[in-house]
Amino acid sequence: MRILVLGSGAREHAILLALKAEDASHELFAAPGNAGIAADATLVARLDANDPTQVTDYANDENIDLVIIGPEAPLVAGVADALRERGIPVFGPGRAAAQLEGSKAFAKRIMDAAGVPTGRATRATTRAEVAAALDEYGATYVVKADGLAAGKGVVVTDDRGAALAHADAYLPTGPVLVEEFLSGPEVSLFFVSDGDTVRALSPAQDFKRAYDGDAGPNTGGMGAYSPLPWLADRFGSEQAFVDEVTRTVAEPVIKQLDAEGTPFIGLLYAGLILTEQGVKVIEFNARFGDPETQVVLPRLTTPLSRLLLAAAGGYLEDEPAPTFADTAAVTVVLASEGYPEAPQTGRPIEGLRAAASVPGVHLAHAATAGPDAPDGDLIATGGRVLNVVAVGDTFAQARERAYAALGEITLEGGHFRTDIAARVAG
Ligand code: AMP
Ligand code: GLY
Repeated sequence: MRILVLGSGAREHAILLALKAEDASHELFAAPGNAGIAADATLVARLDANDPTQVTDYANDENIDLVIIGPEAPLVAGVADALRERGIPVFGPGRAAAQLEGSKAFAKRIMDAAGVPTGRATRATTRAEVAAALDEYGATYVVKADGLAAGKGVVVTDDRGAALAHADAYLPTGPVLVEEFLSGPEVSLFFVSDGDTVRALSPAQDFKRAYDGDAGPNTGGMGAYSPLPWLADRFGSEQAFVDEVTRTVAEPVIKQLDAEGTPFIGLLYAGLILTEQGVKVIEFNARFGDPETQVVLPRLTTPLSRLLLAAAGGYLEDEPAPTFADTAAVTVVLASEGYPEAPQTGRPIEGLRAAASVPGVHLAHAATAGPDAPDGDLIATGGRVLNVVAVGDTFAQARERAYAALGEITLEGGHFRTDIAARVAG
């Protein structure tokens, strides 16, 4: 197959690697990519991934069989709509359905209409409304920007002043949401949908805070692991959990969006909190999660391209459900000095070859650039630089491998969490 993957993060590199692993004869096109993607793709396409016309013309000219949209920006820009209009198979929702991620108020409305369990929330447009909502819900305070903020528009704090200050920062540009604080472990569960049928992938957990022990600011994600062995304690089995969320969350949301004339064809990412009162949604994303994808896809034992093509083509019901290996996968993100507030970029990264040669380890690049010369230095170009991904028979083994690989990598000022999957490793 000829497949075009849009995006430039570790998630897109993970998607590309999964496609490459399932069938070495795929021709894989990528845009804009990064140094890791460039090394693994057949070709890096010179196009603006956020421009519907450029993407559609390219896919048409190059006889692309399937376009996979990684990040949210092209979805919001209407790239999937343009491709679908031209009859090109695309995995990713149109602009209207992608609002499930782009607008938290839209997501809340859909959840209300579909009867999906979520926390209470108030949409506020003035400081007085924010203050009233903070007092109504009480501490711990949760304040979110109602728009795309790449995982950084949320503050969770016991400090009322800090909650108000966060709202002040976003109110000039639009409304904010004040939410009821939900307490419990978090789970990320992905669903592939063709607008009607849904198929769940294996659950993962990510680590959003910057530092060990869940300290420090929220980030785009510092690490992840999959599967979640402790789900069996609560639900009897992982499958029982997945079935419950499919029935109470994914299916009602997909039905609601379809009923509103905005079918969701793509990846529905449910960010869940397992509260004492049951499973509740904290957020939806309209795309694969990063870094969870890096630990979910290496465990997928059925072909990714078939699954995504069936979703794009509207015949997911006829496809066998995806299956997963009974292995433990761990990913740890290497971040630049100063991430997330003010990442220092442009620094060389060394030791990647040695890291990738640790058994069970591969790298998923995020913000890297430069030549792929033997032991040639790459340059870190952003906050989250790359993911070390390790698979093992046990979490203890996967962790050992991941951290051994990180020990081979040198990036001045680089930092990573040392406690990813520590609890499940026992
Ligand atoms: P979001 O951007 O909505 O995913 O929020 C980022 C992170 O903030 C989540 O993964 C949670 O850890 C935390 N968070 C968001 N909303 C809530 C909430 N209502 N209660 C507790 N934690 C939350
Ligand atoms: N892992 C968080 C996200 O992808 O938004």
